[in-house]
Amino acid sequence: MKLASLLSALALGIASFAVQAADPIVIKFSHVVAPDTPKGRAADHFKKLAEERTKGRVKVEVFPNSQLYKDREEMEALQLGAVQMLAPSLAKFGPLGVRSFELFDLPYIFPNKESLYRVMDGDIGKKLFTLLEAKGITGLAFWDNGFKQMSANKPLHTLEDFKGLKMRIQSSKVLEAQMKALGANPQVMAFSEVYSALQQGVVDGTENPMSNLYTQKMHEVQKHLTLSDHGYLGYAVIVNKGFWDGLPADVRDILNKAMADTTVFERKIAQEENDEALAKVKASGYTAIYTLPYKDRVVWQQAMLPVHKEFEEKIGRDFIQAAYNIAAQVEKEKAAQPAAPASKDKPGPAKAKPAAKPEKK
Ligand code: LMR
Repeated sequence: MKLASLLSALALGIASFAVQAADPIVIKFSHVVAPDTPKGRAADHFKKLAEERTKGRVKVEVFPNSQLYKDREEMEALQLGAVQMLAPSLAKFGPLGVRSFELFDLPYIFPNKESLYRVMDGDIGKKLFTLLEAKGITGLAFWDNGFKQMSANKPLHTLEDFKGLKMRIQSSKVLEAQMKALGANPQVMAFSEVYSALQQGVVDGTENPMSNLYTQKMHEVQKHLTLSDHGYLGYAVIVNKGFWDGLPADVRDILNKAMADTTVFERKIAQEENDEALAKVKASGYTAIYTLPYKDRVVWQQAMLPVHKEFEEKIGRDFIQAAYNIAAQVEKEKAAQPAAPASKDKPGPAKAKPAAKPEKK
């Protein structure tokens, strides 16, 4: 080869290497809700932080509203590496074979957000993430979407009102048992299909936090809503383990920090988003809103609490007991404090008896 052509080949090689080196690492982040929800806004926030802080070495492409995949498909896509990041609700890990996440679906398990965060951020949260590793998944953070409300085309005041109603649920056996305990007929369905199923009467009602209900326009096809706070909905932000482990260490550190900061942001906006959504549903005039009185909450709770016992083995007795202990500890600390102004938390009836007594020390 002549010197000139050798030099030009070398130059080409260098140029193409430079292009390759400048190619950003792409993180496809798929989710099923609207961009203007706690999860949607947090996904966009993470994108901004990740791209700014890595100075463009990472590009995060967010796909909201089940644009790429529905609930079940997105889990498979993550494992196959077709997307790199998801934030499925904690009720959607059962089909993966990791049933302990259904702890969070147990009706009335968290009397307030403080107990919930301690569960997520402590040993229980860490152990749950460890269980994902064998599935090729790494857990990065827990995000919040608050407590769920019940809706239907008829008033839902008493247990009688649930008899025979077809209620859409997420793919969780605990939620299935919860609806059965109420006398309803649970129907598992992907989130993206709920609006049209409600509209066409394929199902009669559903449960979700207000931000999901409002942004999917479910209130337009649900005449009645009961503010019941009977259960919780939150998320695990997860990544494909192979992808995550293969990132340059400095990039991974920056992304971990961006995720931690996004989690603080997400938890801060979750309640605000749900309060705003409730105000908008009220203002829309489509849906009659009923706040379940305390005396009836206790009745609902008594009907649903046997579900805790029923799932002890599947979820893990230790997990459930540890969550009870944390709730009891938070209650103790609150009682020891001077009276504080009413919290914005939307807890279930904290005072009603739990299914099992906290362990004696
Ligand atoms: C649902 O399917 O109802 C929720 O999990 C949707 C979500 O991700 O908030």
